[in-house]
Amino acid sequence: MPSVRSLSSFALSTFGLGQSVLAGTSSNRLSQLSTRASATCNNPQLSCHNTTVQTNLCCFNAPGGSLLQTQFWDTSPPTGPSNSWTVHGLWPDNCDGTYEANCDDTRAYTNISAILKAASPDTLSYMQTYWKDYQGNDETFWEHEWAKHGTCISTLDPDCYTNYQPTEEVPDFFERTVSLFKSLPTYDWLSAAGITPSSTATYTSAQIQSALSKNLGGHSVYLGCSSGALNELWVFYNVRGSVQTGTFEVTDSLTKSTCPATGIKYLPKGTSSTPTTTKTSTSSPTSTSVPGTPFSGKGYLNVVTSGTQKGCLISAGTWYTSGTCATFTATASGSTFSLSSSKGTCGIVSGKFTCGSGVTAAQFTASGKALVYQGSGFSADSTASGSTQVTVYTGTGHSVGVEIDWQAV
Ligand SMILES: *[C@@H]1O[C@H](CO)[C@@H](O)[C@H](O)[C@H]1NC(C)=O
Ligand SMILES: *[C@@H]1O[C@H](CO)[C@@H](O)[C@H](O)[C@H]1NC(C)=O
Repeated sequence: MPSVRSLSSFALSTFGLGQSVLAGTSSNRLSQLSTRASATCNNPQLSCHNTTVQTNLCCFNAPGGSLLQTQFWDTSPPTGPSNSWTVHGLWPDNCDGTYEANCDDTRAYTNISAILKAASPDTLSYMQTYWKDYQGNDETFWEHEWAKHGTCISTLDPDCYTNYQPTEEVPDFFERTVSLFKSLPTYDWLSAAGITPSSTATYTSAQIQSALSKNLGGHSVYLGCSSGALNELWVFYNVRGSVQTGTFEVTDSLTKSTCPATGIKYLPKGTSSTPTTTKTSTSSPTSTSVPGTPFSGKGYLNVVTSGTQKGCLISAGTWYTSGTCATFTATASGSTFSLSSSKGTCGIVSGKFTCGSGVTAAQFTASGKALVYQGSGFSADSTASGSTQVTVYTGTGHSVGVEIDWQAV
């Protein structure tokens, strides 16, 4: 039963936010105060901890009751300030770590910047610094995060608003994400524990966890690594009430980290050379909040473009439509895996998928049967045909989007 909520109930719930986490930031939170009309919630239960079936999903997040504020540490190419992590998103995972995605195509808006410019300009300007796409396509990244994850948040449903106006829930999503991110100064927390970016130092998973969890009421976080370097972290919350006005309480990670126990690099931003990429792609990056079953054993890497399989990768890692597909070996480790061919280990060299001797092994994840690297798919400058071999790049920045699918043999 949505009704116009009162200012005081929001202020109260804002001050009730996990004190240990948000100490010193409540004024920040208040400046995010929304004036839009979403449901008032009386004595809401904590998501994922209800003892009875909750029917008002405007005041109780379900099935996505585990809300993750996800962050990136992008170094190649670097994004955002060199002394801050950047926002990835706010994801409603189910209470068991699985998740729903793309829940309402009718609300997959393509004008997030315009919506925020009109309704929440301060949020937009903050995002322009701290919520960055690694290929410079911020609007597309925001659209993707909203459509894939935001539309699955039950308390942001249009039915939860009095006199709902189209796109009204969008600023609520981005404001809440930004306010949570501001309450998680993870760079400073790591730095206070002596964990600072370095091209030579390495850290243990326990050191990183401890530096973060002591600021999070002792709760664990998900740590994501790529090629042995820390590049993602996810903080898990349950919510008492709605995403708009409820109280967020930190909880333990539901997802197994992909970082090794020791030898973790935390690279400085902006020191590595990066390929120049064209930004003509219209496909959005794919981020996977829960990696799929890792590839293992022997298989082909088929290339699918525009929905059709067209050739496969050969042993050097290039895309070819004539000739025999290379047999790759996938070796799983937790939810990630490495790949090799007869040429050698597969990794990412200057943004290119490459297999050869001396190539540093990259850690990949699976999204169904599709290969994922650092939360994203792959692209190329042209479609392979005849005897032309085409380079496959990580990310969606090149003009031809390609999906690389595993076919066990
Ligand atoms: C909690 O509420 C959800 C949503 O109504 C429901 O699916 C779930 O069964 C409830 N859990 C319990 C223990 O009642
Ligand atoms: C954004 O797009 C939606 C749906 O297409 C439209 O209703 C809305 O008016 C647009 N908002 C702005 C600020 O352009």
